[in-house]
Amino acid sequence: MPHDAPQSDTTKVFDPRVLRRALGNFATGVTIVTAHDGETMVGVTANSFSSVSLDPPLVLWSVDKRSGSFPVFQRASHFAINVLSMGQIALSNRFARPHDDRYAGVAWRAGQGGCILLEDTSANFQCRKQQIIDGGDHWILLGQVVEFEDNGRPPLVYHQGSYSMVLPHPHREQANASAVDKSLRGRLADHAYFLLTQAVRSYQQSYQPEQMKIGWRPSEARLLMILDDGPCRDMAALSHDADMPVHAVEQTLTLLGSRGLVRRTEGGYELTPEGCTQVCDIWALAQRHEAQVLSRFDATEVAAFKRVLKGIMAT
Ligand SMILES: Cc1cc2nc3c(=O)[nH]c(=O)nc-3n(C[C@H](O)[C@H](O)[C@H](O)COP(=O)(O)O)c2cc1C
Repeated sequence: MPHDAPQSDTTKVFDPRVLRRALGNFATGVTIVTAHDGETMVGVTANSFSSVSLDPPLVLWSVDKRSGSFPVFQRASHFAINVLSMGQIALSNRFARPHDDRYAGVAWRAGQGGCILLEDTSANFQCRKQQIIDGGDHWILLGQVVEFEDNGRPPLVYHQGSYSMVLPHPHREQANASAVDKSLRGRLADHAYFLLTQAVRSYQQSYQPEQMKIGWRPSEARLLMILDDGPCRDMAALSHDADMPVHAVEQTLTLLGSRGLVRRTEGGYELTPEGCTQVCDIWALAQRHEAQVLSRFDATEVAAFKRVLKGIMAT
């Protein structure tokens, strides 16, 4: 939907929260960018990382001008981009919040110019800092890749304020698949992993638009459903249960609070009576949709299906 704005480009002023929410539609990976200036080790969770050029090999990322870590990035000759893998949510959260010592208990080794390489990542890129460019309220750091490791682990993804993961695309819309593709599909069609991922994709494709139609983004619906599950949750529990970084939980709670659906309590947050009414609608949709998707199967099949799914989850 176009965002209402005054007449001229030069005077256009956006609500930063609304702009940030729109930018969140661009799914990214998650990195921890690190540096060591000889005295202090810093590391900042960042999703602004982007590749720029192959020849010469250049990458960039941007850091908030208010960042306490920036002076170290400014002094250090190098920085390292650590591309986080799917299981590194806790590490991402740790390097995104104030912490006495972000590296306490974290496995790391030194790279060129003292930059810091973390373990179990999808990849890392050691960079010689080339330029710091003024980019509004951020500094853009451009670096030349001097060394890298390609570990290929499935990446951690960030989308609409929530951590997410990559699923293979179903390619359903391709009418004339090639012979190779058809024979591959024949074999895959009996493979549990393929079936699971395709089933999730298919479910999601029909469910999420319905949820959006009644006015909810997945992250908002998820937080309301979590709060519905218990009387009150603190920020750390919400961040953990919703797979969202604390700042994204805070932003979503502010939005839900401004709509009168959530309120603060001494121990954390709880639903208001209006929030309880709304969450009933969200659950009703979830149950209606499940009933519709499973309507072709009888109760015994559905029970067996859920037992299998729970069994797989427990492995
Ligand atoms: C998924 C995610 C992506 C982030 N991306 C950036 C980014 O690109 N640049 C930035 O300056 N901060 C980013 N942040 C916020 C910083 O990680 C956070 O403000 C951190 O505390 C900054 O470190 P500092 O306290 O040493 O300044 C991001 C946080 C998260 C959870």
